Amino acid sequence: MLKVSGLTTGYGKIQILQGVDLNVSEGQIVALLGGNGTGKTTLLKALSGLLPVWDGAIEFDGQPIQNLPPHTIVRAGLTQVTQGKDAYPAMTVEENLMLGAYTRNNKPAIANDLERVYTFFPRLLERRTQLSATLSGGEVQMLVIGRGLMASPKLLMLDEPSSALAPKVVMDIFSTINRIRKSGLSILMVEQNVRMALLLADYGYIIRDGVILLEGEARDLISDPNVKASFLGGTVVDTTRDIKA
Ligand SMILES: Nc1ncnc2c1ncn2[C@@H]1O[C@H](COP(=O)(O)OP(=O)(O)O)[C@@H](O)[C@H]1O
Ligand SMILES: [Mg+2]
Repeated sequence: MLKVSGLTTGYGKIQILQGVDLNVSEGQIVALLGGNGTGKTTLLKALSGLLPVWDGAIEFDGQPIQNLPPHTIVRAGLTQVTQGKDAYPAMTVEENLMLGAYTRNNKPAIANDLERVYTFFPRLLERRTQLSATLSGGEVQMLVIGRGLMASPKLLMLDEPSSALAPKVVMDIFSTINRIRKSGLSILMVEQNVRMALLLADYGYIIRDGVILLEGEARDLISDPNVKASFLGGTVVDTTRDIKA
């Protein structure tokens, strides 16, 4: 579904990504993991068309998409939910959600997707007429994921969906990400919560200094000694059994 080959990009003259190869197959959750400042957000921005691709290729759904304008990429079915919880505080929950549908004009399909978002996030339905300024951190994270879904993506890219959230809320968010995948979407998820991400994902990539250091089936990465030593610090207990059921 998504095939990235030899991708290089950066800011101004500073190169950040040093030739990244990465794939997401249909229906998969793929985790992109690594420390702070290693190029994860930079990769998502290049995939979204927010940052020029210097070299390499991005193929999505069989078509080259590198350096297409962001709205064209969204329309092709690739949507990024940005890092940080950037809802518009002076707009209602529903107005924020509708912003996600800005590239679309099929009203019945949009209404259908709004209903689907409210099925994934009943809390947003309860709060649909409230200003998003009144939401908790977890609710804002739900809102920005919901807004991403309003673009009707085939592949949703999530940039650190669990960051700065309480453990209980993190469970809710990961559980919903799993349900979104089960509804037929593919997901590329950037995470600092390596343990949870690998427990949920099918496949994982570990990036350092703009280079993919290691990749593999998530279950193999979890038991990899280097991953354990660098990210997991000991034995991993599967805390996600309930949410995967
Ligand atoms: N707008 C920018 N201008 C210049 N350098 C940037 C910009 N955004 C990020 N960087 C640099 O690019 C590198 C990778 O950043 P980023 O992709 O945001 O890391 P991550 O998401 O993995 O934490 C970092 O060294 C960061 O300082
Ligand atoms: Mg980042």
